[in-house]
Amino acid sequence: MKPNNDPGSSLQVADRYHTHWKKAVIKYSPGCRDFKQALEKNRNSLLRIWQSYTRQVGGIGRLPLTDASFVAPYLIGFHLSNWARVYGTFIRAQSRGLKLPTGPGPVRLIDLGCGTGAASQGALIALSSPKGDIDFELELIDRSRYLIEAAKSFVNELWPKTQTRSLNKSLEHEATHKLHRVWQSRPARLNVLLMSYVWNELSSNPRTQSRIISQLHSWSMCKVPTWLVVNEPAAEAGARKAIALRDHLVEEGWGLAYPCPSANFCPMTSAGRDWCYSEFTMSKSPEQLATEKILGVSREVMGSASYIFLNPAAAKAYTKTKNESVVVGFPREGERQLLLTCDGEKLLKGKSVGSPLRGSLA
Ligand SMILES: C[S@@+](CC[C@H](N)C(=O)[O-])C[C@H]1O[C@@H](n2cnc3c(N)ncnc32)[C@H](O)[C@@H]1O
Repeated sequence: MKPNNDPGSSLQVADRYHTHWKKAVIKYSPGCRDFKQALEKNRNSLLRIWQSYTRQVGGIGRLPLTDASFVAPYLIGFHLSNWARVYGTFIRAQSRGLKLPTGPGPVRLIDLGCGTGAASQGALIALSSPKGDIDFELELIDRSRYLIEAAKSFVNELWPKTQTRSLNKSLEHEATHKLHRVWQSRPARLNVLLMSYVWNELSSNPRTQSRIISQLHSWSMCKVPTWLVVNEPAAEAGARKAIALRDHLVEEGWGLAYPCPSANFCPMTSAGRDWCYSEFTMSKSPEQLATEKILGVSREVMGSASYIFLNPAAAKAYTKTKNESVVVGFPREGERQLLLTCDGEKLLKGKSVGSPLRGSLA
């Protein structure tokens, strides 16, 4: 068993993308001429955001990132790793048979709680064709105008043909809910709704969560194929909320393209102490390694509760190309370490060989 052959292993950031990321970090660090200075200047805010995301109850951060001074530390500490988690989710699903629908019209990406746009940029990279013949429309929504501005700067520089609009409003705001009707009345080849590290942030706001659920219900019935991409923390509290959302959505008729192709309730829910999440690895640049040194972590393997849901129009066109049995855990039996796999219906224990990543195919 493989990690090196797995599509979620050793994810690479393209040079142009990494260069723009560095440029953005420096731009949002007033008075700094290079990355090293910017890292030093943002050290305290970086640690503050990190602690908020990793040490709060259940590992769920709720620091409002609306101040301009949060852009650089967010970019430094979170942007590339979130990008890798979303990009890794897409390329795994694509390697298992998920394809862009053919036909006219743009691919419309809607990035809810976009932050610096890591998720939509992961989608743009995964879905762009080498010929450049796919049109994209991007809608960025966040309560921080500074984060939206940074997200736009990536798209303007790296995907200049993409039509970008933004809404600087809270997800609670009426305007966000009205937009939904506008989007559905415009034709598209595919809708991709992205919710990356946002769902758990709304935990304290059940009204907004239930409004989002009701919008998702209407996207599920939309005639245009629609993918919903959800990424949440791998830590237990966050992942279990993502699993609950998964189970709710399959009940509402959404299919799944990742991590498993099942439209049943998640078998891991009743499997005792473990829970389902995915793991990815990426080749790190010196700037990322210097950041990890400050944070006192080595994000060798990056976990994420990652899902790609398909509305019925998209599920019709999805044919999985491989018999999927996904690595979901490593239970111990006495001295032996076993491999737990899941085919979406049932769990199976077997012999563990090598060190496969969770979410990869067994
Ligand atoms: C953890 S960050 C994730 C950002 C980005 N999606 C990513 O994957 O890197 C959460 C984002 O959601 C935004 N957010 C949280 N609650 C929100 C709300 N109620 N309305 C609008 N944006 C919100 C925050 O401003 C922040 O940019």
